[in-house]
Amino acid sequence: MVTNSYMDSYRRSVEQPEDFWLEAAQKISWTSPPHSALDSSRAPLYRWFPDGILNTSYNALDRHVAEGRGGQDALIYDSAMLGTQLRYTYAELKDLVARFAGALRANGVGKGDRVVIYMPMIPEAAIAMLATARLGAVHSVVFGGFAPKELAARIRDAEPAMVVTASGGIEPLRRIEYLPAVAEALRLADSPDIPVLVKAREGFTATTADHAGWLDWDKSMATSVPATPVDVQATDPLYILYTSGTTGTPKGVVRDNGGHAVALRWTLENIYDVGPGDVMWTASDVGWVVGHSYIVYGPLLAGATTVMYEGKPVGTPDAGAFWRVIQDHRVNVLFTAPTALRAIRKADPEAELLRHYDVSSLRTLFTAGERLDTDTFHWASRILGVPVVDHWWQTETGWAICANPRGLEKLPIKAGSPTVPMPGFRLRILDGAGTEVESGAEGNIVLGLPLPPGTLTTLWGNDERYMSSYLQAFEDCYATGDSGYRDADGYLFVMGRTDDIINVAGHRLSTGAMEQVIGQHPAVAECAVIGLADPLKGQRPSGYVVLKSGVDIPEDVLAKDLVALVRRDIGAVADFKHVTVVDALPKTRSGKILRKTMRQIADGEEYAVPSTIEDPGVIEQLLGALRPGPADAG
Ligand code: COA
Ligand code: AMP
Repeated sequence: MVTNSYMDSYRRSVEQPEDFWLEAAQKISWTSPPHSALDSSRAPLYRWFPDGILNTSYNALDRHVAEGRGGQDALIYDSAMLGTQLRYTYAELKDLVARFAGALRANGVGKGDRVVIYMPMIPEAAIAMLATARLGAVHSVVFGGFAPKELAARIRDAEPAMVVTASGGIEPLRRIEYLPAVAEALRLADSPDIPVLVKAREGFTATTADHAGWLDWDKSMATSVPATPVDVQATDPLYILYTSGTTGTPKGVVRDNGGHAVALRWTLENIYDVGPGDVMWTASDVGWVVGHSYIVYGPLLAGATTVMYEGKPVGTPDAGAFWRVIQDHRVNVLFTAPTALRAIRKADPEAELLRHYDVSSLRTLFTAGERLDTDTFHWASRILGVPVVDHWWQTETGWAICANPRGLEKLPIKAGSPTVPMPGFRLRILDGAGTEVESGAEGNIVLGLPLPPGTLTTLWGNDERYMSSYLQAFEDCYATGDSGYRDADGYLFVMGRTDDIINVAGHRLSTGAMEQVIGQHPAVAECAVIGLADPLKGQRPSGYVVLKSGVDIPEDVLAKDLVALVRRDIGAVADFKHVTVVDALPKTRSGKILRKTMRQIADGEEYAVPSTIEDPGVIEQLLGALRPGPADAG
């Protein structure tokens, strides 16, 4: 049965999920197709397409070559940092991936082994991901902006058979040397013997010659015997992607092969309206879920052309960079974070630079990573004259929970809303006691189980943590950690997180992790980090510290120390630059810091002081420190 309206599809997906998803699965090329969609035998640990066998890399590459698309561009690399553009056809990309898979195999990587990929936005990052998948191995890509300690935490948890990296990444004002960071991470993870393979880039100081036994990408490729795709069960893991939880220990989100391929393939056609030959550009980074799904896997599974952009929205060289890329590569669909649009608008409020470029190929602009504020929505809609579509999702879900499915039915767009739930997402808004709230009332956004294909299956090696983190708070539901409401038409409005995760320039960060780092400073007795509203980055972290008694340290010196510590242990990307010393932190009688109240005061919002506060006088003392804006060490 073919459904071509949103409501029909949604209803079918929740009322007849077997039919709906087995039909979607027909768009994937299986070595052995699945006979059933859902395995509930270990509920609440659900598995999709239990008897399906496939290879994801085959579906992303070989299949298109076999179907006659070998000469079409698969990947276009555009580096605003280097001023270069490279194009890879499906046939070329397939050959490179097969050869790199051969190189990994020659170094002992096999089915089920993990490969940590710590790379900048260069084609080799995508090649390494697809090559790992070709062997039935499991990749874990780590964002290049993370510091060695964060990389070490991921290496420790994933226990990789190999680390693949490059000489470094290029930021507008500096080059980031990766090799010392990798060496330091291996040392911190007590794993100095894990083999490291390096793509050499010009302009960096450190080389493989500095590290005995480290391998060179080009040399390995020259001698490699290309590998053919290895069959895996649909339920076997394709990748682990670590994301911030509320503690300092990142969560290893596990994605399977079959559910992922089916779901992403469905989204390309039905949400993004992208098919074979179309050009999709996702301006994110392969280190984030958006990069996994829509720079690498999604567009390639659909036989489209993906653009991989190494650059920024502004300053490389100017706020016309995005328009230039759209023009040069005839981009049909752009996906970016609202913060990037705000950066462009700040630099070029009337989008004067847009007039220099022909962006007529652009059909739709999608945004995610944070709420698309209505101002930016109206601005982008006005200057581009194409539909601007917010959609809401998380690392855990791998694809949009709520979206406007442009390929299925072009639903009316409402500013401030990511529209409606996508198939399989049984979205509900519950109060703290687990009761459904009325339309228009804000509550916890939860998703009834099972989640659809393509969403996380568990946390790496830790089913218990998966269940306690997501499935315990509300019966038979996955807790998204976001709060929001639905209007009378069923449109969702996401209002923010209910936990200690913040979103800085579309990057998800844990305030708990920053507090752990700050707490190491010998002068600090206790601290709280909260995310304050920021006109460019959405939120920015701000730290409040109580000094140990008897400690005398100037506030600016302490601030510089703490900023440096967070940079060293988490990374520059945390953008932690604000520190204020306070006499005490407001807490409940059970010792929980009232971060929400602090944030409301600092953002100038109405604030509520819970009746469980230990000492109401602390709030009075804090008002002065919170309101004028804290000391800036940046
Ligand atoms: N490797 C190393 N360092 C990195 C990095 C990377 N991949 N990415 C960012 N950093 C560093 C930057 O160099 C900067 O360091 P600094 O403090 O020494 O200057 C710091 O992290 C913060 O960088 P960034 O978040 O890029 O902020 P910015 O002020 O330089 O630029 C924006 C602001 C809005 C232009 C930029 O944040 C941006 O492009 N955001 C879009 C992000 C995005 O696409 N997210 C998508 C997730 S879906
Ligand atoms: P990440 O896992 O890094 O993708 O971050 C997921 C979180 O970012 C979500 O739980 C939300 O808090 C926020 N987020 C992502 N996209 C949106 C959106 N379109 N609207 C509102 N919040 C969003």
